[in-house]
Amino acid sequence: MPRKLAAGNWKMNGLRASLAELKTLEERHDDASVDILICPPATLISACKDMLFDIGGQDCHSATSGAHTGDLSAQMLADAGASHVLTGHSERRTDHGEDNATVAAKSRAAYAADLMAVICIGETLEERESGSTLSVIDTQLAGSVPDAATAQNTVIAYEPVWAIGTGKVPTLDQIGEVHAHIRARLTDRFTDGAEMRILYGGSVKGSNAADIFGVPHVDGALVGGASLKADDFSPIITALEKA
Ligand code: 13P
Repeated sequence: MPRKLAAGNWKMNGLRASLAELKTLEERHDDASVDILICPPATLISACKDMLFDIGGQDCHSATSGAHTGDLSAQMLADAGASHVLTGHSERRTDHGEDNATVAAKSRAAYAADLMAVICIGETLEERESGSTLSVIDTQLAGSVPDAATAQNTVIAYEPVWAIGTGKVPTLDQIGEVHAHIRARLTDRFTDGAEMRILYGGSVKGSNAADIFGVPHVDGALVGGASLKADDFSPIITALEKA
C-alpha cells in the first residue's frame, strides 16, 4: 500500500514570513513515516521547492500555455517546484464555476506535466440532507477523474462542502460510508483502484484526527486552517503516523 498522506491546503493565506512555519514543521518531521504535502499559494512554491515536503499548487489551467491572464499551467507549477496540484476543490467549483469536465481537463493537464492530481469531491449540505450524497459522489468521480488516473498520478480527496472551515465534521460512520463507496467505485473502474489514496478533508484538527484516521479507507487528510501553523499541523501528522 502507498504511504499515507498528510496534505495542507493553505488556500489564499501565506506570505514569505509564513515559511518559518514550514521550517519548524520540517525540523519536527524530518523523518516522517507518512508523506507530507503542502499546497501554499503559488507565489511561495519556488521558495518551498527545496523543503523536505512535497509541494503542490492549488489549481491549474487545463491548457499548457496561452492567452489566459492570471492563470497558471500545470507545467508552470512543475517548473516552479511543485509535484502535486489540487483540482476541483469546492472553492474552485463554487467561486469559479468549475464543473466536473473542467476538473477532469485540469487533472489531465496535471498528468501531462508529471504532477500528481489531488482531485477533490464532496457534497453540499443540501445534497447531504436530501439523501443524495452517494449519487453526487458517483457523478463527481465519473466526471472529474480521468480514465488515465492511476494510484501513481491521482489522490482523491473527499471534502464535504459543509464541513470545510465550519468546525462541523461528519460522524465517523458517515465518513466511513463515503470512503468505502469511493473505494468500491475506484476498484471497479481502475486496476489499481485499491491503492489509490483517499483523503478526508473538512475541519480536521489535532483533536479529531486520530479518530478520523481510524476509519477504514481513510488514507490521510487534506487540511485547510489547521495546516497554517506548525503547532496545529504537527499533531495531525503525528496522528497519521500512529494510525
Ligand atoms: P478546513 O480544514 O479549514 O476545514 O479546510 C478543508 C479544506 O478545504 C482543505 O482543502
